[in-house]
Amino acid sequence: MSVNTFFDMPGGAKMPAIGLGTGGLRDESTVEAALNAAFDAGYRHFDTANMYQNEAFIGRVFKKWFSSGKAKRDDIFITTKLPFNGLHQDRVKMFMKQSLENLQLDYVDLYLIHFPIGFKYEEGPFLLSKKEVDDNIDHIAVWKKMEEQVDAGRTKAIGLSNFNQRQIERIMKTARIKPSCLQIELHVHLLQKDLVKYCHDNGMVVVAYSPLLAPGFTGEKRSIPPPMENATVKKIAAKYNKTDAQILLRYLVQKKIVPIPKSSNPVRMKENIEIFDFNIESADIKSLDDLEAGEMARLRKFDHFGPGIPNHPEFPFPG
Ligand SMILES: NC(=O)c1ccc[n+]([C@@H]2O[C@H](COP(=O)([O-])OP(=O)(O)OC[C@H]3O[C@@H](n4cnc5c(N)ncnc54)[C@H](OP(=O)(O)O)[C@@H]3O)[C@@H](O)[C@H]2O)c1
Repeated sequence: MSVNTFFDMPGGAKMPAIGLGTGGLRDESTVEAALNAAFDAGYRHFDTANMYQNEAFIGRVFKKWFSSGKAKRDDIFITTKLPFNGLHQDRVKMFMKQSLENLQLDYVDLYLIHFPIGFKYEEGPFLLSKKEVDDNIDHIAVWKKMEEQVDAGRTKAIGLSNFNQRQIERIMKTARIKPSCLQIELHVHLLQKDLVKYCHDNGMVVVAYSPLLAPGFTGEKRSIPPPMENATVKKIAAKYNKTDAQILLRYLVQKKIVPIPKSSNPVRMKENIEIFDFNIESADIKSLDDLEAGEMARLRKFDHFGPGIPNHPEFPFPG
């Protein structure tokens, strides 16, 4: 495997095996510095979302790259997401077009439904809205509109984020264009093996968000420390003369899972992508597998988004 490793997506597209998460990169100068450092380190895959409120900043950086000849559009893989208040068949096209306008692109490589529960739409930034849960969600009708975005050339591929197997199966049954990706919280303590197997068996690429279990994130209650503090991870890192983060990211790539670690620190960004010059042996993979802690390790439950979330019939997580 090299830094140019790609995973095949249905329909012939290819996703670079690691990407830069941009959630949490909120001001323009931070985004510009981070993207430039990431590009120089070798990143060509970037993950954003309408909800991160940084698409316009990313778009301006891309524009500079394309006009200076630093990169061509085809060099870049960009994912963005339909926001929670866009989860309605009447709003998919509007939000897709808004993302393209922000990113100053004719198409994105991947458009994901961010979350299986929607909120009623109000003008203005989602994060500031009242966030009243919408009980009339029709995933099948929304998916048909997602398919139309592929037909119209606005996105190369479409997929899901934070959906469970039951919800994916329901879409698969009637989909004309099958979901090509599932983006979920996934790290050494929460491997979601059955869901990953289902996705791989159905040709979907699995993308791991919070692959380092988001050290430093304080938004939700943490029941397990970040795995970079784990003794087994540290021991394996010492054996391969790599950092803890490199072991955790390489471990996922060896499982054909695409990690999208977020960093705004050029040194850590470089560290996170320098994972293609070694191989973790199977005995060490087994030791890492044993760190699985199940649902208790899940950090992002989205219940702080609104009181209607945890008891909603489409709440995707067990328990
Ligand atoms: N689909 C969804 O619902 C969803 C939800 C959450 C996140 N995401 C996506 O996934 C991306 C990553 O997830 P995340 O930000 O939650 O978690 P993460 O990537 O596991 O952790 C990010 C944190 O780790 C630090 N970090 C990065 N590399 C490091 C290293 N080598 N050593 C030590 N610390 C390091 C970063 O700090 P520095 O910046 O200071 O390096 C940052 O605080 C997001 O940016 C977003 O694009 C998607």
